[in-house]
Amino acid sequence: MRVLNYGSLNIDLVYAMPHFVRAGETLASLGHQTFAGGKGLNQSIALAKAGADVCHAGKIGRDGLFLRELLERHGVDTSCLAVTDGPTGHAVIQVDPSGQNCIIICGGANQEITPADVDGVLRHFEAGDVLLIQNEISSLPYLIGAAAAKGMRIALNPSPINEALGEMDLSAVTWFILNEIEGEQLSGKRVPEEICRELLAKYPGSTVVLTLGKRGVLCADGRDTISHGIYDVPVVDTTAAGDTFTGYFLAGVLSGLSPAQCLERASIASSIAIGRAGAAESIPERAEVDEKQALWK
Ligand code: RIB
Repeated sequence: MRVLNYGSLNIDLVYAMPHFVRAGETLASLGHQTFAGGKGLNQSIALAKAGADVCHAGKIGRDGLFLRELLERHGVDTSCLAVTDGPTGHAVIQVDPSGQNCIIICGGANQEITPADVDGVLRHFEAGDVLLIQNEISSLPYLIGAAAAKGMRIALNPSPINEALGEMDLSAVTWFILNEIEGEQLSGKRVPEEICRELLAKYPGSTVVLTLGKRGVLCADGRDTISHGIYDVPVVDTTAAGDTFTGYFLAGVLSGLSPAQCLERASIASSIAIGRAGAAESIPERAEVDEKQALWK
């Protein structure tokens, strides 16, 4: 069984701001850094650091070759990553003094993925393999349909949520890993337990992992609903906390951990990530997660 993460790769332009820029305002940043990012790339690195064997498929321009090198340094298979003539996707990220962010993405090469590209990648995978997806690349409905037709199991992190995603056929998805806003949009419900119930009714046989910010996380399947709280740590930058959670959660499931163990690991990993600046760079190694797990018991 292999994991294919078909997802975005971005160059993150990160600005430390006294507050988020308001309409009509021009505001000087307190500092600027460039980081590796993209929900896809971040999740591949989290999976790899958590010990999973992962292949990352997607597209970058030549300005993004350092992203490929970063994936390779972490042991991610990049044989399905294409390089095009256009620019790599990028994100403009403001981080305020409390560590919260707001993000503008510009798709670039992430939006150049075609059904023919998808076919070329999927021929290297087979029934039982796992496809992880987010919502930052083109041809997503085609990818979901083609992977399902092959018998691949699909994990969806529907981020960033938009109307198009709400209209896609998600009946082949096995794991939904999402936050409350995404859950509300996909289920039409507001209360966390109702979001889970509605999604399970719409997509029977799936598992719903609903992150609730400071209130922790719920994990529900047809039989049980379990929860896990957060760890109270100083926040530097919340960017990629969700990606860290997704990668660590999925790696845990695939290595045979129980849902409770997966939630614990993923919650610890994302708590460590929010204490550091940047996206991919903030994701902890497995050994750090194990160490904190022993400390925070
Ligand atoms: O989830 C964080 C990521 O969202 C950033 O790295 C940015 O590139 C956007 O894709």
